[in-house]
Amino acid sequence: MGEVYKARDTRLNRTVAIKVLPKHLSERTDLRRRLEREARAIASLDHPHICALYDIGQERGVSFLVLQYLEGETLSQRLKYGVLPTEHVMRYAIEITEALTQAHRKGVVHRDLKPSNIILTETGAKLLDFGLAKRQVLPPFSGGITVGHMAAKTESITEEGMLLGTLEYMAPEQLEGSEVDPRTDLFALGVVVYEMATGQRAFQAQSKAGLIAAILTAHPPPITTFQPQMPPELEQVVQKCLKKSPQERWQKASDLALELKRIARTVPVEENFLDPRVDRLRRKSDSRPDRPALPHIPDRKVSRLGTPTPEVRTVRPHKPQARSV
Ligand SMILES: Nc1ncnc2c1ncn2[C@@H]1O[C@H](COP(=O)(O)OP(=O)(O)OP(=O)(O)O)[C@@H](O)[C@H]1O
Ligand SMILES: [Mg+2]
Repeated sequence: MGEVYKARDTRLNRTVAIKVLPKHLSERTDLRRRLEREARAIASLDHPHICALYDIGQERGVSFLVLQYLEGETLSQRLKYGVLPTEHVMRYAIEITEALTQAHRKGVVHRDLKPSNIILTETGAKLLDFGLAKRQVLPPFSGGITVGHMAAKTESITEEGMLLGTLEYMAPEQLEGSEVDPRTDLFALGVVVYEMATGQRAFQAQSKAGLIAAILTAHPPPITTFQPQMPPELEQVVQKCLKKSPQERWQKASDLALELKRIARTVPVEENFLDPRVDRLRRKSDSRPDRPALPHIPDRKVSRLGTPTPEVRTVRPHKPQARSV
């Protein structure tokens, strides 16, 4: 839907990421609303594992968000190199679960949790892209999650963007267009953790129809089938995330985080194991020719999504930064 640029905030002298809605899409009120909804969702959150929002605005018809710039690689880029070391699986699983705990406590359901929406930085995993996030109405003083109150029926898989590349991580209720709630994110989290631990997608098929059928009915092989060294308890945790019925899943991200932390304490610790740089150095030193080169990140543009059009090319990443952020 958007394009993300790396830019310089010259007033505060810091690097930022600017997510823009290109001019030709700025006309689309649904997408403009989605960007605003994303901004409101992020603004309500403040967590070390959630990408921070600095500002929102519009310049010459281009709507944009100014975000904390995250130096690192997305989990989807990392997964191209295969399975992650157990310690990293545990670390990132805990961090994302804690990010979700806060989001859910604030009544925000992410709804698009997937590896390309997680950036691995030197200070850990950061959750981003709340573009499909939905707010729940929480009862006063609840401080917790109210399940089953989210009217998400209006935004089923037929909504534009929902089917593009995110199908693999969608929970059965999302695919069916039923109500979604925090447990929907916990299903997606299970798919992500499964992939970190095995290097395999939990649900795979040749076609979209096959994939939907797999998510609705299939049970992925145990993690230990692919990676026997993974803790067997992680397998149980993930299987509980992947239950077809939300009632049978983890009910709260906070409970899941506690269990993951308990399991992490049983994992043998390598020296520097929590430092993602160690993982990167390992990969750099592995010079097997069949491995793809590290993806090149262009200087200005972090990433650009969608088909380039003449309007898109006129979007100047340095323009929005001229505003105060
Ligand atoms: N704050 C950031 N710092 C660094 N890179 C970022 C940042 N935000 C986004 N990116 C990069 O841009 C990509 C797209 O960002 P984002 O997911 O927010 O946009 P999107 O338009 O919703 O994308 P999609 O529809 O593919 O999910 C990310 O996968 C990441 O590579
Ligand atoms: Mg995204």
